Amino acid sequence: MVYNLAGVCSPSACHPTHRNGFLKVTDSTTVVRINNLSKRFVIRKDKSIKERLTTFGRSAGFREDFYALRDVSLEIPAGSTVGLIGANGSGKSTLLKTIGGIIQPTTGTVQRRGRLAALLELGAGFHPDLTGRENVYLNASILGLTTAETDRHFDAIVDFSGIEKFIDTQVKFYSSGMYVRLAFAIAVHVDPDLLLVDEVLAVGDEPFQRKCMDKIRSFQHEGRTIVLVSHSSETVGDLCDRGIMLKSGRVLFDGETKGALRALRAEFEAERAEETTVDFGLGQKIESVALVDATTEEVVTAIAPGQSVRLDITVSSDVVLDEWVVGMGIDTPLGQSVFGTNTRLLGSAGNAPLVGERTVSFALPDLRLGNGQYFIHASFGTPAEESAFRIAQAATVESQDGTRSVGVTSIAASYTTS
Ligand SMILES: Nc1ncnc2c1ncn2[C@@H]1O[C@H](COP(=O)(O)OP(=O)(O)O)[C@@H](O)[C@H]1O
Ligand SMILES: [Mg+2]
Repeated sequence: MVYNLAGVCSPSACHPTHRNGFLKVTDSTTVVRINNLSKRFVIRKDKSIKERLTTFGRSAGFREDFYALRDVSLEIPAGSTVGLIGANGSGKSTLLKTIGGIIQPTTGTVQRRGRLAALLELGAGFHPDLTGRENVYLNASILGLTTAETDRHFDAIVDFSGIEKFIDTQVKFYSSGMYVRLAFAIAVHVDPDLLLVDEVLAVGDEPFQRKCMDKIRSFQHEGRTIVLVSHSSETVGDLCDRGIMLKSGRVLFDGETKGALRALRAEFEAERAEETTVDFGLGQKIESVALVDATTEEVVTAIAPGQSVRLDITVSSDVVLDEWVVGMGIDTPLGQSVFGTNTRLLGSAGNAPLVGERTVSFALPDLRLGNGQYFIHASFGTPAEESAFRIAQAATVESQDGTRSVGVTSIAASYTTS
């Protein structure tokens, strides 16, 4: 029997492994095949009133073609978990929507098979005036479930969502977190072969995110195919067996998850490096910030727990500053402070008046950060205004804690039983 990739065969001649005409993917075949996909959007730019006046309204604006995706080709085999990563605007959501059939390619083709469930934009597929209950039935029917099937799953869906109190409330009164809870609960209960998840999960609270991750893991074990977009390198690194990094609509890396995350970090790092020398325009400057290994003095971007490093911050001032403070801090990607100090807290007795350049070296012995990426910020100011000048992401460092632990600190934990 020849299946078309879209997974639909005529209901009269439906194969026994199909449900409702959809092919159930049980073999190691291709679930998504994308060939030379490009997606063009037309952007209309309105001219300013001044421009309109000077052209006497002859041209009200202009249209510009913009490619959100360019020449993307990929195959996703059944059972794989693919992480789509890239900077904002790189085309991740557009690619996911094209796979989901929500938007049509400009050129190229997308073929898909099996039952699809997608969690794309917030509230997509929900009718605001209907209640949660009504939307469960509406949504499940769009995803291919019969009313009887939905009846069977209804309690499990509501239970998973955790919003039973509001199930008979119109969804227009839902918070974004409640939307996502219900939408994800439906998506995972329609028995999908392919699950597409955009960043929306991040809207849910932490216990719910955890529950979603557990569900995604059990989907993996069941051999279902998952494509997810996430800003969290931890999530992508944890869940995905393949990473695809997009840049300006093109596939820049497609392969091992670690490699994809490395490519993304390299891109962010390149952007950030351009910003490291900051001239505040007041005669004071942070010239450079470098994290180096305490022994080799080589610049480090990755460290192991217990490594001793040094942060060199070079500042300069055109005018004589009798008193000045240089500070540093380590933050999580979400901006939570892990550690911070400055020359005043550490005793600035040795600080002679500053004019011209000066390098402050902070020794950070035996640094024990948990697995993950961290940003290092640098600040420069006077005692009255310690952080008058601050670079939020002066350097980044990835801590590679080989042990199996989570959190922002690495502790050499072990256990015994008794
Ligand atoms: N409907 C649209 N019309 C015009 N431009 C769009 C549309 N949807 C997305 N874009 C543009 O396409 C680019 C990629 O968007 P998107 O796929 O949402 O990026 P990402 O999800 O990676 O942040 C962005 O520059 C965005 O502004
Ligand atoms: Mg997006």
